[in-house]
Amino acid sequence: MPATVIVGAQWGDEGKGKIVDLLAQDSDLVCRYNGGPNAGHTIVAGGETYKLRHMPSGILWGKECVIGAGCVVDPGVFIEELDGFEQRGLSTHLVRLSGDAHMIMPWHLAIDQASERRLGKLQIGTTRRGIGPAYADKAYRLGIRLQDLFDPKILRQKIEVALAEKNVWLERVYGVEPIELEELAARYEGYAQRLRPYLADTSLLVDRALRDGKQVLFEGAHGTLLDIDHGTYPFVTSSPTVAGGACTGIGIGPMRIDSVIGVAKAYVTRVGAGPFPTEIEGPDQERVRELGGEFGTVTGRERRCGWLDLVALRYAVRLNGITSLALTKLDVLSAFAELPVCTAYELRDSTRTEEFPAHQSDFHAARPVYEVLDGWGETLDGELPDSAQRYVEFVERELDVEVSWVGTGAERERVLARESALH
Ligand code: IMP
Repeated sequence: MPATVIVGAQWGDEGKGKIVDLLAQDSDLVCRYNGGPNAGHTIVAGGETYKLRHMPSGILWGKECVIGAGCVVDPGVFIEELDGFEQRGLSTHLVRLSGDAHMIMPWHLAIDQASERRLGKLQIGTTRRGIGPAYADKAYRLGIRLQDLFDPKILRQKIEVALAEKNVWLERVYGVEPIELEELAARYEGYAQRLRPYLADTSLLVDRALRDGKQVLFEGAHGTLLDIDHGTYPFVTSSPTVAGGACTGIGIGPMRIDSVIGVAKAYVTRVGAGPFPTEIEGPDQERVRELGGEFGTVTGRERRCGWLDLVALRYAVRLNGITSLALTKLDVLSAFAELPVCTAYELRDSTRTEEFPAHQSDFHAARPVYEVLDGWGETLDGELPDSAQRYVEFVERELDVEVSWVGTGAERERVLARESALH
C-alpha cells in the first residue's frame, strides 16, 4: 500500500515503533505527523537499543524521514537526538523538517511543569515536555515556528512579544524565575545553523513521493485514547493522534491514505492519570509490568497495566478506520493461566454496552465485563500454540478486523506476520 498510517490504538506505548520499524524496511519515506518529544519509541536492533523522541523510526533503515507541520519540536532535544545518531554511525542527512512545525520554547517547559505542580492531585500527569503549552500557543497564535529561526530579526521580535506575557505568568502566577531575552535569543539563533540543512517543504515532498508511486509510512505518536478531540479528555495529549491527523499534520488530502494499521498491545497500559476500566487489581498488575518492562521511555514512570479492553479497541477501530491490526507483546501474557478480556462495559444503570461511552461520566463509572480465555503456558517461539491462536482469533472476531501481525518479543525479528499481512 503506497500510503499507510500506523496508529496506536490504546493509550500509547503499544509498540508502534517496532511495527513501523518492520514496515519501514520496504518504505521510501517515514513521516511523523503529530506530537513532540513526549513520544518515545524504543527499538531493539542488532543488540542495540534505540530510544527515539522526535525522530521517525525510518532513521534506523536509512530512509528519508519527515517531521511534519503538525509536530512540535524542541530544537535542543532534536539536535541532541541528531548528534546521538551521528555518533552511533547513523546518517541523518535524509531527515526533513517542516518549517511550519512549532517550537517548544523554554517557557512551555516551565509552564507545563509549574502548572502540573499547581494542580497537585488533579494533575494530568503530563510528560512535562512543554507539549500542552506549545500547542496552546499555536492555537492562540503566539507560537514560534521553526522557519522563524532563519530570520533573526523576526525571531527576536517574536520571543520578545511572547516573553512579555509569559514572564508575567511565570513570576506572578507560578512564582518561578522569569526567562531572560538575550541569552534565549542567542541560543535559538545558534540552533538555526545546525537545523538549516534539514528544513524542507514537507507537504510538497510527501505529495511528490506519493505521485511517484513511492511507499510512504505515516507514524502516529501516542495513542487513540490520548487524542485531543476523541480521547479521554482532559487526560489526553494536545494533538490529534488518530489517523486523520496524518492528513492535517503532513498536509495531504484524506483520499491519499490507502490503509490504516492499528497497533495494540495484547493487554493495555496507561501512563498518567485518568480512568482505566480494565486496570488490574492485585499482584498481577505488577507481574505484567515487570514482564512487559512497562516503564515510560520518556519519563521512566511506571505504567499502569490492565487486561485487554475490546470496547476501547472497537472505538479505536472506528475512529481511525483501522484496516488491520498488529497485536504486540503477546509473549508477556504467557505467564498467565487465565486471561480476562473485556468485551463490554457495565454502566451505572446496570445496562451493558459494547460501545465506548460518549459521556465521560459514564466512562469513569464503567465496569469491565470479562470473558476469560485460556492461557497457553509456554514461551512463544515460532508458530503460536493453539490457545494463543485462539486469543488472537477472539480479538479478530470481536472487532471484525484482521490481526495481521503478532509481536512475541522485544527484538526486531520477533514479529509473526499472519496470512492477512501477506496480501
Ligand atoms: P503530554 O503529552 O506530555 O501533555 O501528556 C498528556 C498525557 O498524555 C499524559 O497522561 C501522558 O502520560 C500521556 N502521553 C503523552 N505521550 C504519551 C506516549 O507517547 N505514551 C503514553 N502516554 C503518553
